Amino acid sequence: MLTANQIRSQFIRFFEERGHVFVPSWPVVPAGDPTLMFTNAGMNQFKDIFLGLRAPDHPRAVNSQRCIRVSGKHNDLEEVGLDTYHHTFFEMLGNWSFGDYFKAEAIQWAWQLLTDVYQIPPERLWVTVFAGDQQDGSAPDTESQTLWPKVTGIPKERVLQFVKKENFWEMGSTGPCGPCSEIHIDLGPERCNKAGIPGHVCRVNGDCGRFIELWNLVFIQFNRQQDGTLVPLKANHVDTGAGLERLCAVLQGRSSNYDTDLFSPIIEAIGQLTGRQYKGQLGDQVDNAFRVIADHIRALTFAIADGVIPSNEGRGYVVRRILRRAWRFGRILQMREPFLYKLVPAVVQTLSEAFPEPLKRAGFVCEVIEAEEASFCRTLDRGLELFAQAAARARQSDGVISGDDAFLLYDTYGFPIDLTGLLAREQDLKVDQAGFEALMEQQRSRARAAAKASDLATQLAGCRLPVTDDSLKYQADTCQARILGWLDQQGLHQEGILDRTDQQVGLVLDKTCFYAEAGGQVGDKGLIKGDGLEFVVEGTERIADCIIHKGKLISGQISIGQIVTATVDAGRQQTKKNHTATHLLQWALQQVLGSHVHQQGSLVCPDYLRFDFIYQKALTKEQLEQVEGLVQEKIEQDLPVVCEVLPIEKARHLGAMALFGEKYGSHVRVLGIGATKLEQAFSREFCGGTHVQRTGQIGGFAIIKEESVSAGVRRITALTGHCLMQYLLERRRIVEELTGMLQVRSDQIVARVAKLIEDNKRLSKQLKAGHPKSQDALAQARQFLEQAKMVGNTAIVTGLLPDVSIDQARAAIDMVRNKAKSAAVVFGLDEDTKATVLIGLTDDLVAKGLDAGRLARAIAPLIQGGGGGRPHLAQAGGKDPKGIEEALSKASQMISQALAG
Ligand code: ALA
Repeated sequence: MLTANQIRSQFIRFFEERGHVFVPSWPVVPAGDPTLMFTNAGMNQFKDIFLGLRAPDHPRAVNSQRCIRVSGKHNDLEEVGLDTYHHTFFEMLGNWSFGDYFKAEAIQWAWQLLTDVYQIPPERLWVTVFAGDQQDGSAPDTESQTLWPKVTGIPKERVLQFVKKENFWEMGSTGPCGPCSEIHIDLGPERCNKAGIPGHVCRVNGDCGRFIELWNLVFIQFNRQQDGTLVPLKANHVDTGAGLERLCAVLQGRSSNYDTDLFSPIIEAIGQLTGRQYKGQLGDQVDNAFRVIADHIRALTFAIADGVIPSNEGRGYVVRRILRRAWRFGRILQMREPFLYKLVPAVVQTLSEAFPEPLKRAGFVCEVIEAEEASFCRTLDRGLELFAQAAARARQSDGVISGDDAFLLYDTYGFPIDLTGLLAREQDLKVDQAGFEALMEQQRSRARAAAKASDLATQLAGCRLPVTDDSLKYQADTCQARILGWLDQQGLHQEGILDRTDQQVGLVLDKTCFYAEAGGQVGDKGLIKGDGLEFVVEGTERIADCIIHKGKLISGQISIGQIVTATVDAGRQQTKKNHTATHLLQWALQQVLGSHVHQQGSLVCPDYLRFDFIYQKALTKEQLEQVEGLVQEKIEQDLPVVCEVLPIEKARHLGAMALFGEKYGSHVRVLGIGATKLEQAFSREFCGGTHVQRTGQIGGFAIIKEESVSAGVRRITALTGHCLMQYLLERRRIVEELTGMLQVRSDQIVARVAKLIEDNKRLSKQLKAGHPKSQDALAQARQFLEQAKMVGNTAIVTGLLPDVSIDQARAAIDMVRNKAKSAAVVFGLDEDTKATVLIGLTDDLVAKGLDAGRLARAIAPLIQGGGGGRPHLAQAGGKDPKGIEEALSKASQMISQALAG
């Protein structure tokens, strides 16, 4: 029996023997193509060639591409697990002709490989061709209809016509496309999984397990425009795709892809982890769960290895959903703790021969999956709580969980609608499916609107773009060049004159010193001048091998062939500093946090640098200071910065750091810091950006922010050179303003502000407490009155009123004086380091010669202070609250004596 590895290599060898060059798989994250979420077909990496934007390196290619189909035009997510052949992650074997051979050879070779090499009995094969489309006027593919029987000998009756849905292939809503011809295999009536369903007939494209598609041959002839129209391409191309998983199932005589050697080690690992057994049945809950998990762990492993981190948006969100879906099915297998990450080694075991490079990061993939699982464990419980609340609301009304609740559970807590439905049924509740669907539709239409945003490349399809020599970008800030054309809404103009100053255009030169946006470094800005012409460049972009200077004409006119001087503005010097500092920062982070710290993204522009990296915790102040210190040290040492272009293998051998999921060519530019020889440099990274020549030119470095961007990803923002200086001067101005306002030296600002904050807290607490406290003060005073010592008819009322303001205490004294006809009141107030004693007397006592002022003065020393006031009301204030008790009893004693006397 052929193994998957043998099947793959036989495919590749077959086409290599027919003049095809093997091209390595793209990462599952399609670099630089905003129209695609994930690489969804082998042809993605050749899109520019089909559109005529780039000449192919070879006219024929073959490869095995790792793909993910979970969003947009090709989305198989919901089918996975329920049958034996849909996958989110799969490998697509393919062969390509770029304007070289066409239908006849493609058909002949596909047939030959299947029937001669793989030995599939020809009588089991069926083929389909395009029947044409009346709506967009595309013609039926009569050529293929005739070619199949002629080239392969297949009987005419087994060549069937199908419409657009089946036989017109498109990559996305825009881009290269064309009619296709598919090869299907009849696996026999016993493989039908729809038998017994009324009206079901087994047939090609009949959606049962008996007939399955093996290979799709696409004849790329058109470019689908944003408005839906088809524009013929300049050349005809062949793009084919055969799913390796299905091919393996057929060739290994298995009825399910999950029984092939691509999956069985993973299925076994799931069995071992869960203690359950896979029986391979359809419609069985446990078996479905095995299949979903086995499928999803492959998608997760490659998405993460190729640089996607679970998050709440874009690709990260898709990865999060896949993981949660897998997790939910894990619950069916009674898994309650993180377990998915333990399956990654089984994925490595099955696919490391095909994709050794990304799978080197398996350790990192495990870490990310485990962290995300742990966090979902927590969300799941919160989701279940929310469900309980939604269920309670439903019970109180009409017994229906609202669409809003179901959507919230789906969207925020990752509860698929069927899980919510299941939980609801258990409690005899229903779910407002229609309401949920309406909200889902709104979300989908938002996604559709986002997916429509086409890129410049698709718009420019069909124009063979000129090649710009941009090698000068590393050496010069200014250069002479010739105008080759300009781009506007209508496309590329390579003749004529442009003198309009009111629109953005893209100027194309034969050579340039401008850096086009790439690798996190922004495109240069500057000026292009010549013979009356002045063109301001606001940004620079690369499409295929053409550099586009985007901007506006300020004066003069643009004419083809004109000689101009292109000058990059001064911001580029600052960008260089920031870029070299970014490399130093990555190196320093690895020194401080460990060598596993890896770049997740970066932005290098003239004003600042931003570096995102994978790390689970916030950095401490000490760690940040250490990182900053290390970078500053390297700047002070004024070390050389070198760069060399090397064969990729040599660069990897040197241990140069590359980005996850980045697609590199056969040669890469490696940037080293610390020595004139790359081998001796302490920092080595793959990098196409512009850099300073010595670290001293960076002129200072400071981190101004450290934050989290998503779970497990931290972001550092830092400044260098002149921007750092500006920042520091601004801080100095602020400090000066503060010293002026606070009337302290700069080194006392912190202590002073801390004191102000403290005072403010205390005062606002008091203020807030004001009203109830006065009530308390009165209540307490009333109590003291009740317990008063009576001397004749006079009540001597004493007591301590803690946390009461002087005004509140005075009000309490007034209350006592009114209530008791004859009274002497002595209240003590203490507050941290302040002590106050208030004394109040009724008129009869004053008439008898008692004097509150005198009493206050007499007791004041006991609280280490002074006192005084009027005969009716006086006050003693001191700084020793401990003396209050004594002061109160002394006052009471003096009053009793005076009354007795
Ligand atoms: N690009 C074609 C497909 O994905 C071959 O089916």
